[in-house]
Formats: sequence, structure tokens, C-alpha cells
Amino acid sequence: MGTVGLVFGAGVAIAACVAVYLRAQHRLVPRTIERHRARDETRFLDLGAGDGLNAEWLRQSDTTIDVTCIDLANENRFGASIVYDGRTIPFPEKSFDSAIIAFVLHHVPATRQLGLVRELMRVTRRRLYVFEDSIASHFDRCLCAGHQRAFGTSTVEDARSADAWRAVFADAGLTVESMSLTSRFIAPWIRGCKCYLVQRVIFVLRVP
Ligand SMILES: C[S@@+](CC[C@H](N)C(=O)[O-])C[C@H]1O[C@@H](n2cnc3c(N)ncnc32)[C@H](O)[C@@H]1O
Repeated sequence: MGTVGLVFGAGVAIAACVAVYLRAQHRLVPRTIERHRARDETRFLDLGAGDGLNAEWLRQSDTTIDVTCIDLANENRFGASIVYDGRTIPFPEKSFDSAIIAFVLHHVPATRQLGLVRELMRVTRRRLYVFEDSIASHFDRCLCAGHQRAFGTSTVEDARSADAWRAVFADAGLTVESMSLTSRFIAPWIRGCKCYLVQRVIFVLRVP
């Protein structure tokens, strides 16, 4: 094989690695849950499910998984999200094994975040999987101001750093099983995030 062939082969291999990496980041939510969940942890609540794609990917990963989606409005493209008032989850105690709350809490007014976390603890038995933006510096706050304004219901005051999110979960009485931060440069590849270059923090939390 000549030099041109070698260069071409190396180019194809690098492109394939990048494609695999970006696809993995794109599926950050279902990938994280697949990695941490127990085999019999199958009944999930996806709170703030949005278009429902995370729930759909999770169902596709294992047909025994049942995901109930709930949101302030039904924008679910893969079924229906239950519409509720944003405060009281319309399910009895311990209805679900675990709950997913992906990029939702920073859109909830800071004074109501702890209450919503406690409400999730009421309806779940095992874990909360929380995905959040970590707003830790002045630079982050500048980026975040536009993002929060675009969303309409939240302000930069509702966003927190990874450590401040951890403090909210400690207040609620949750145990941190794992906490990890992504690089801010992978953020645009998480679905729906466009060019919002902030770090993301992932918590796997044990419900007492
Ligand atoms: C940035 S989107 C995230 C959607 C989805 N979880 C995802 O990861 O693609 C934020 C979602 O949170 C929802 N939301 C905001 N406040 C909420 C609340 N109090 N309870 C439930 N959902 C809420 C919004 O309606 C929106 O669908």
C-alpha cells in the first residue's frame, strides 16, 4: 500500500472513531442509565421528557423497560407525555423504580427545585438519574443567561454549579452513588444542545 493509501486509511479510521464518540455523547442519557441500572430496575419516570427521544432510546435498549413520560406540555413525538402542574406528580408513593430528570431542574425556579426533587423521591424506590448543566464561572453565567432567556421560564439565578446541585440533593437526603462531569467541548453533541458550551454534570442518586 502506498503513502496515499495509508493516509486515506488513517483518515477513515479517525473519522470512524469520531463518529462513534459523537454518537455515544448524543445518547448520554440512555447510555448512562444502561451503565448504572440493575437488571430488575425497569419502571422509569422521565420527568420533563420533552420530545420523548431519551425515553424511546431507553425502551429500545431493553424491551422490559417501561418509561412513563411527564411534562408541563405534551411535546412527545413517540407517544404521549402526561401533562401536570410542574409541582405535584400525579402518582402514588413508590410507583416507579427510578426517575430520569434530564436538563430540567435549571428551568425550575431555584426556590422550587428542592420541592420537585422531594416529589420525585416520593414516587420512586431506587434511584434518580439527574443530568444538569454546571454553571460555575462568570463565563458560564454569560452563556447561561441567553439559554435561560430563550427558554422563557427560568433565569440565570436558577442555574447552579455541580457542587451546588450536589448540596440540593444532600438537603433532600439523597446519597450520591456517582457524580461525573463532561468536558464542555462535548456539550454541543448532546442532543438538542446546539452550541451551548457548558459542562454537564451527571448524578446517580440513591433514594433512601
Ligand atoms: C431542555 S428540555 C429537556 C428535555 C429532555 N429531558 C431532554 O433531555 O431532551 C427541558 C424540559 O423540562 C420541562 N420542564 C420544565 N419545568 C418542569 C417541571 N417543573 N416539571 C416537569 N418538566 C418541566 C420543559 O417543559 C422541557 O420539556
